[in-house]
Amino acid sequence: MRLDKFIAHASPHSRSEVRQLLRTGRIRVDGEPVRDAGLALHDQSIVTLDGQVLTLQGPRFFMLNKPTDVICATTDSHHRTVIDLLRGQDPKGLHVAGRLDADTTGLVLITDDGQWSHRVKAPGRHEKRYRVRTARPITPDTSARFAEGLELRGEEDHPTLPARLELIGPCEALVWLQEGRYHQVRRMFAAVGNHVEALHREAVAGIELDPTLSPGEWRILTQAEVAAGMPG
Ligand code: URA
Repeated sequence: MRLDKFIAHASPHSRSEVRQLLRTGRIRVDGEPVRDAGLALHDQSIVTLDGQVLTLQGPRFFMLNKPTDVICATTDSHHRTVIDLLRGQDPKGLHVAGRLDADTTGLVLITDDGQWSHRVKAPGRHEKRYRVRTARPITPDTSARFAEGLELRGEEDHPTLPARLELIGPCEALVWLQEGRYHQVRRMFAAVGNHVEALHREAVAGIELDPTLSPGEWRILTQAEVAAGMPG
């Protein structure tokens, strides 16, 4: 987006007032005074007016690399939550689009756009990719059984949707799911007589966990990533 358009949307100033603000050097982009109204902003550009960060009103979208022992809830009296990790962000309306267990690590999407999170989570619309380490070697029939659909304990009348498994070592695999039931990966491995020792989510709805994010770090989604969550 052009700088002058961004400021007009993110502040109460009219386009002509924005031109004046730019001329007088009150606008900075990434710390540098900018006078070029047509400057093209990047997703990560920080624009300030008199030192105050300007943000567009509207839906917010974040990705977080969840560490273990942080829970996917908005508030909790005993544990740190993923929302607690979004330091500096107003928590109002923010929620998780697809939870992970406390001991699962990796990609968590957080937004205040309920329609977007609903689409991302809807079964059969988007794939989620997990990296799994198991206690025992993964047997040759596991891939076929995941592809056929499994009857999970307590949900025998509602088999899982076809899932894909790719072995990457005797006790390590990538798994693609089309849905997100409670403890699903762990329960699927339990159903084939194995046990999940470590679970990490790498991608959701075509959105890959940014490899530059260390556990506990987050960033704003790019426009392309937000769009990837929409179709389907
Ligand atoms: N499946 C699980 O068992 N746990 C998760 O956290 C995510 C998928």
